[in-house]
Parts: sequence; structure tokens; C-alpha cells
Amino acid sequence: MAEAVPRVDFSGARLLVVGDLMLDRYWFGDVQRISPEAPVPVVRVTRSDERLGGAANVAFNAASLGVRATLVGAIGEDEPGRRIEALARERGIELRAARDPQLATTIKLRVIGRQQQLLRVDFEQAPGPQALEQAFEAVRAAIDQAQVVVLSDYGKGVLAQVERIVALARAAGRIVIVDPKGDDYSRYAGATVLTPNRGELREVVGAWRDEADLAARAQALRRSLKVRYLLLTRSEEGMTLFSDDGVLDVPAQAREVYDVSGAGDTVVAVLASMLAAGRPIAEAVTLANRAAGIVVGKLGTAAVTPQELFA
Ligand SMILES: Nc1ncnc2c1ncn2[C@@H]1O[C@H](COP(=O)(O)OP(=O)(O)OP(=O)(O)O)[C@@H](O)[C@H]1O
Ligand SMILES: [Mg+2]
Repeated sequence: MAEAVPRVDFSGARLLVVGDLMLDRYWFGDVQRISPEAPVPVVRVTRSDERLGGAANVAFNAASLGVRATLVGAIGEDEPGRRIEALARERGIELRAARDPQLATTIKLRVIGRQQQLLRVDFEQAPGPQALEQAFEAVRAAIDQAQVVVLSDYGKGVLAQVERIVALARAAGRIVIVDPKGDDYSRYAGATVLTPNRGELREVVGAWRDEADLAARAQALRRSLKVRYLLLTRSEEGMTLFSDDGVLDVPAQAREVYDVSGAGDTVVAVLASMLAAGRPIAEAVTLANRAAGIVVGKLGTAAVTPQELFA
């Protein structure tokens, strides 16, 4: 592991995380035979596991560092929705979710037999206008207590009117970090930080030929959106920060890679927590990269503890 980094005091840091809430469910079992009904394996489920996913995973990652996180999104009045509530409570996250009785809470179910994912089943639905309004009111009520607002967009509909939230957060003088989705980033104009991954950035600026071409495209996008920092996460290539100060490359730090899912959530959570604790951006990026390097060594969407981060 790399050298120890000075411990950061997160006790005064407060985040408001807004976005698409999800439940990640895993069913584990044995496969002994092929179904007589169709040429598919029969999994006899022996164990299950559940994790907070999407925006809820960002809040979970912040809470794991000791940061107080308020989480806003939408859930249905169903079993997965109640599980999200219970998990948030257990993790010390203050959940202020809109409850839409028409909504099926987003859940991603993985069926795993013999250490292998056999199937993923998604249930998802966009929240209705009333739920969006409720969520917006929850943001308005919570925004004064947080230094940083995180908008975790998984394209499931909670951030359909993200412009309103960015405007509200900016008027309140808050740092706004957006984990973006889709091909229209004008929706995020005026945010402080955007954190696309490679595929997400490519969707917006096109494929780049080399590093110089990437920098030109990223900087042009950043300036056109009046965004202060664009942090490109690059999986095994680490991350690159684009700003008015130029380009900062941070190489990936992972020792062993087991599961990269959720690494982007960890990046956003650590970055936001650091900025909420008043740390400078370069330090925040370095620590976020370190945290991501640790979390990819864990199975399933997971979080990093201060003990691991500052070891
Ligand atoms: N294969 C890898 N090896 C080393 N580090 C990795 C790897 N994959 C991810 N990371 C670390 O995690 C960070 C975020 O990963 P990535 O760019 O894949 O984000 P992402 O696509 O948004 O992730 P996800 O959506 O799965 O949460 C990277 O910047 C890097 O620090
Ligand atoms: Mg991501």
C-alpha cells in the first residue's frame, strides 16, 4: 500500500445527496441441475445479501467515513423501499425520500450460482411529478445544513429537473458535485464538479485520439458549462482533473481488483466529504482515488472506513 496520508477530521462535514435510490440484492445458491422447463440452470438459493445502491451507495460511503449525510430520492411503498429505509437507518443516513405509492422502488437482483452471476433482474420506474415535487421540497429543507450537495444521476428520473436543484444549491452558495448520465450535460451547467467516467464523457464529447485531444475536449466542455472542475474517472487508468489550473493526472492505486462496481460512488462520496471538510481539490482527488483503489478490492458495492483510508 502507498504511504500513510494525514487523517482528515470529517466530524463537521455534512452532505446532501440527491438522486436515484436503489437496492442491490444478491441471491446466492447451488446449481445441481438444469431445469426440465427450459435449458437454464436451477439455482437453489441458500443465502441473500442486500446493499444500498445508486445515490444511496454514495450516502453510505460518506457515512462510513463519519460524515453526516442526508439522502433525498424517491421510493415506492413496497418491500424494497422499506429495505432501503431500514438499511439507511442502520448506516446512520438521514433518509428524506419521497414516497410514491405508484412507484416500484428500483431494485437490481443478481442471481449467483457457483461464484458466477447467472442473471440480473432490474425493476425500475420513473417517479411521478408529485414525488419529484416532494423530493425538491426535501432538498430545499435540507440544503442549509450541508456544505456540499451531491447529485447522483443514474438516469432513473429523480434528477429529471436537475436544473432546479443546481440553481437552488448555487443560490445557497453550496458546492455542487454531479455524477452525470446521458448526453446532455447542459442540465448540469453551473455545477462545481462533474465526475463522468470514460464512457460517459465519450458520449458527450466523442472519442478522443490522445491525451492532448482529450484535454482540449474536456476543457471546452467544462468551460461551456461554467463548471469549475471536471474529474474524469478512468478505471485502471486512475483519474484526471481538468480545471482552469490545467490538467492533473492521478494514477490508479488498486493492488488487487475484485469488483469495480460502485467505485464511482466511492469517488464521489470521498471527494464530496473532503470538500465539505474544507480540504483543497487536489487533496480531495488524491484521497478519492486512494479510496477507489481500496474499494475495488472488495466484493459487491462497498465502502471504505477511515481506518483503511488513513492506514
Ligand atoms: N480496474 C481498476 N484498477 C484500478 N483502479 C480502478 C479500477 N477500476 C476502477 N478503479 C478506481 O475507481 C475509480 C472509479 O472507477 P471508474 O472510472 O470505473 O468509475 P465508474 O465507471 O463510475 O464506476 P461505477 O459506475 O462502476 O461505480 C477510478 O478512477 C480508479 O481510481
Ligand atoms: Mg459511475
